[in-house]
Amino acid sequence: MTLTVLTALSHDWEGRMVEVVDRLPGVSVGRRCVDLADLLAAASAGLGDVALVSADLRGLDRDALAHLRAHGVAVVGASHAADEGQERRLRQLGVDRHVQVATPGEDLLATLTSARSARTACATDAQVGWPGEDPPTAPIEPVTDLTPPPPTPVEPARGQVIAVWGPTGAPGRSTLAVNLASELAAAGAPTVLIDLDTYGAAVAQLLSVLDEAPGLASAARASELGTLDLMGLARLAVEVSPRFRVLTGIPTPSRWPEVRSAAVEHIIELSRSLAAFVVLDLGFGIEDDEELSYDTAAPRRNATTLGGLAEADDLLLVGAADPVGLQRMVRAVQGVGQVASPPPRPVVNRLRASSVGSDPRRRVETSLARFAGVDGVAFLPDDPAAADAALLAGQTLAECAPDSPLRQAIAQLAATFTGGAVPAGRASGRGLLRRRA
Ligand SMILES: Nc1ncnc2c1ncn2[C@@H]1O[C@H](COP(=O)(O)OP(=O)(O)OP(=O)(O)O)[C@@H](O)[C@H]1O
Ligand SMILES: [Mg+2]
Repeated sequence: MTLTVLTALSHDWEGRMVEVVDRLPGVSVGRRCVDLADLLAAASAGLGDVALVSADLRGLDRDALAHLRAHGVAVVGASHAADEGQERRLRQLGVDRHVQVATPGEDLLATLTSARSARTACATDAQVGWPGEDPPTAPIEPVTDLTPPPPTPVEPARGQVIAVWGPTGAPGRSTLAVNLASELAAAGAPTVLIDLDTYGAAVAQLLSVLDEAPGLASAARASELGTLDLMGLARLAVEVSPRFRVLTGIPTPSRWPEVRSAAVEHIIELSRSLAAFVVLDLGFGIEDDEELSYDTAAPRRNATTLGGLAEADDLLLVGAADPVGLQRMVRAVQGVGQVASPPPRPVVNRLRASSVGSDPRRRVETSLARFAGVDGVAFLPDDPAAADAALLAGQTLAECAPDSPLRQAIAQLAATFTGGAVPAGRASGRGLLRRRA
């Protein structure tokens, strides 16, 4: 089977590399791409198996590499001569195979072939599965070797990702995300809160984090360039109180194209190593805007929310306790069921009889069970006094209204994740990057 290579290389030596590759047995050059856009289009059109790219290819970042891989194209780095700097940059982006113009033919062929096989193996792994039936069982071998098995390597601890999402209409996603994260931290679990709402980031303001705090946009940029590591993320995620870190959102909604899905996945994955809990404040939109565009490589605004949902281990679906909010919640349960996400756990916020009728809990539970098929609803009371006080002070409920019904309800919800006692009392301690209230 011919191996087809796409090249996107520095103009100075591109011709020589193409000549070398084209002479390899069983290999052909499918397209000599002039730039990254050309390469992405060729990959989308299925024109190649392996892309040979140079580190200085303009615009090459993690998102572009994810696009190539998603279209079944393996990536191999190339440079003119040995160049440690270029190789390091590509390795940081996840490209671990590298060749030079002077690489001997058989080594070059082996690298290209192994890149293609690794890609094929990944694709096959992903497809393996026996939907709806048990996997075939292998015959059981009699046990003859009684030596004890080698000790299982201890897996590094991985934080649990809790997505807080809900439909449009400001049902209270940010209020819940901020205070849930603060309660998890108060209960002793290191927690990172990431503001991934590309329509209306609010966490910085809700917690009085200084405007200069760089946050998500910087983390995404560093991730795209392959320079984001755990230490870098820890520097960007401001510690607002003990064990409670915050990665603030994009300063203005118009900057949403700076946050690409591959970077979001990478940031969430790294955050799992930074904390026991990673709480995501997500925007409301989950339509796949790729379908609305002819350019499948274009940035997608809702990709941030979709990526957060896909990475999450738990999903709190927040809705407002009024007829409009509940109807949106029913649609949201159906909508989120169509995308990769954990099963939703409904949280009905601002519960009050005046908007739902007498015995509001029972009414809401009955309607959600009947129309959305969900149960196990958590309720948060309508508590404008506490919510407004927290907003005005730029503090968490634990800091400014510790005895309020809303704080107590969120603390109870947090305890279902920590399995611990409900934290009580006023939280204290402020991080360096917060304004004094
Ligand atoms: N339980 C509550 N009781 C009273 N007010 C509340 C409650 N929960 C949230 N609020 C208030 O409702 C408003 C919207 O809340 P929030 O910003 O958390 O919603 P959101 O879903 O994140 O909205 P957005 O669409 O802007 O992201 C805020 O003024 C907040 O203080
Ligand atoms: Mg919000």
